[in-house]
Amino acid sequence: MGIAIEDLAVSYGGTRVIDGLALAIEPGSFFTLLGPSGCGKTTLLRTIAGFVPAERGHLRFGGAEVTHLPPHRRDIGMVFQDYALFPDKTVFENVAYGLRARRHPDAAVKAKVGAALERVGLGHLGARHPAALSGGQRQRVALARALVIQPQVLLMDEPLSNLDAKLRIQVRETIVELQREAKITTVFVTHDREEALAMSDRIGVMNKGRLEQVGSPSQIYREPATGYVADFVGGANLVEVETVTRQAGEIGPIALDGIAITARAPAALTPGRAILVARPEDIIIAEGHAQDALPATVAHRQYLGGKTSYKVTLAGGRVLAVDLQSGAHDRFEPGASVGLVFDPTKTLVLAS
Ligand SMILES: Nc1ncnc2c1ncn2[C@@H]1O[C@H](COP(=O)(O)OP(=O)(O)O)[C@@H](O)[C@H]1O
Ligand SMILES: [Mg+2]
Repeated sequence: MGIAIEDLAVSYGGTRVIDGLALAIEPGSFFTLLGPSGCGKTTLLRTIAGFVPAERGHLRFGGAEVTHLPPHRRDIGMVFQDYALFPDKTVFENVAYGLRARRHPDAAVKAKVGAALERVGLGHLGARHPAALSGGQRQRVALARALVIQPQVLLMDEPLSNLDAKLRIQVRETIVELQREAKITTVFVTHDREEALAMSDRIGVMNKGRLEQVGSPSQIYREPATGYVADFVGGANLVEVETVTRQAGEIGPIALDGIAITARAPAALTPGRAILVARPEDIIIAEGHAQDALPATVAHRQYLGGKTSYKVTLAGGRVLAVDLQSGAHDRFEPGASVGLVFDPTKTLVLAS
């Protein structure tokens, strides 16, 4: 069942948090809302769920208007960051809750809950209470509870944030597997770009209550529409430059510190001031003053195992981040004069 949002506005006590938002989510797809804290992700998710009223606009599930339906009539399952399990109920009864509320007979409850717990790898823990589970296990219970009612839409608000790095990846894989298997339309909220890139069919990057860009993970990463998206999704270097490039797709020269470097324009530009977007891994450091390289000085080096992160200072004083694969090139000492070479197909120039 697809989700369509049209001209949505949401306020808290007179303060607009979401204004004029439109979004279409394909049936059966995994859609992620990605953005920094406070940008309105939870508000949008809770409006889709029906816990926060829409002040204006329309919300449709499978073409049917649900804008004014209460949450229990929207056929949704929800998973929250803090699990929101009933502490005084067993794992089994937590998962059974939605089925009992819908008056399913005991035998059906037993079979469905058993299968749901089995599916998340907790078949043996039905009799435990949530307090006796690890964080990862609790979130699996919450996932089983959301899915056991076979909802049309699954909504998840930062469900992995409270888990440590290793568990986060395990539960992440379980979520993606279950979603693909059940082909349930899913809206997943996170501020973690790696999570968003790894899990999603499509990502909507949010900024101050608006969707700044919607696209596939590779579109969001490789063709960011704005400096904000490039920075949030990839920690890109953003530098103001002068350009004569005009056409979308054109690869042309741009002027930076008096040196011409080559970059690609994913969208049309007005010649003049623009933003150069260069991800740390798309810049190469060359020894000395190679021709066409941008002169810089190594300011800082950090060895991170698989890669080494450098901070380099340009002649004009700007500092750029450069990541090199550790190994052969991992040899530039702080203070060294170097040249920077930008990958012309990956370095972008965007409207400022
Ligand atoms: N219940 C509330 N009452 C008033 N303001 C709120 C409430 N919930 C969130 N906000 C405000 O709305 C904005 C968006 O919040 P939220 O949707 O929680 O963002 P996110 O989930 O992206 O961190 C923030 O400025 C936040 O302070
Ligand atoms: Mg939130």
